[in-house]
Amino acid sequence: MKNLTVVDHPLVQHKLTLMRDKGTSTAGFRRLLKEISLLLCYEVTRDLKLTTKHIETPMQEMEAPVIAGKKLVFASILRAGNGLLEGMLELVPSARVAHVGLYRDHETLEAVEYYFKAPDDIADRMVIVVDPMLATANSATMAIEKLKERGANNIRFLCLLAAPEGIKAFQTALPDVPIFTAAIDEKLNEKGYIVPGLGDAGDRMYGTK
Ligand code: PRP
Ligand code: URA
Repeated sequence: MKNLTVVDHPLVQHKLTLMRDKGTSTAGFRRLLKEISLLLCYEVTRDLKLTTKHIETPMQEMEAPVIAGKKLVFASILRAGNGLLEGMLELVPSARVAHVGLYRDHETLEAVEYYFKAPDDIADRMVIVVDPMLATANSATMAIEKLKERGANNIRFLCLLAAPEGIKAFQTALPDVPIFTAAIDEKLNEKGYIVPGLGDAGDRMYGTK
């Protein structure tokens, strides 16, 4: 499918299975989410443009590759996005960070905003929006629309699990934004949860249920 990448690396798939398992502890879930985020970060940044820089090795001078352009922005959709953010910042420590606070109204499944903070110059930077779950896509589309209002125009969305319904809604609303996910699950259930899924990502990360 256009603008959709499924990261099917065996390590990602193995770790995802451990995360899905309801017997995995809160500590285990958090550790796995951080580990998996390193692997997903590698994939979502795979095609970043390079330029060269003149350096001197202990042996001789050379033109060596470095990432071109301004530093990346990682935009975390709170709360659960922070689980992906942590590992991504380990790989790209100089990235700028935006936070978009949203929660799903459990009755309507609409996203409700409670916080927004982003670097002023996001128009000049690639923005990678992170949230483990793409269910109805209401949260991701609202977050990305907010970032677009602030000028972001080069955006990618990274998640762990996506529902087919969410992918469809996302691509209808945001056809220009590529999605990277570790898996596409079967469907949403009547309460808007992804099945088979992994449950409520925020609750499993923070032990709030
Ligand atoms: C979860 C998840 C996404 C959202 C996905 O967050 O982290 O942000 O649901 O669902 P959607 O695609 O139907 O919008 P939640 O609202 O549970 O908030 P939390 O991260 O604070 O727990
Ligand atoms: N949010 C979650 O955390 N899990 C789901 O399955 C759907 C939305």
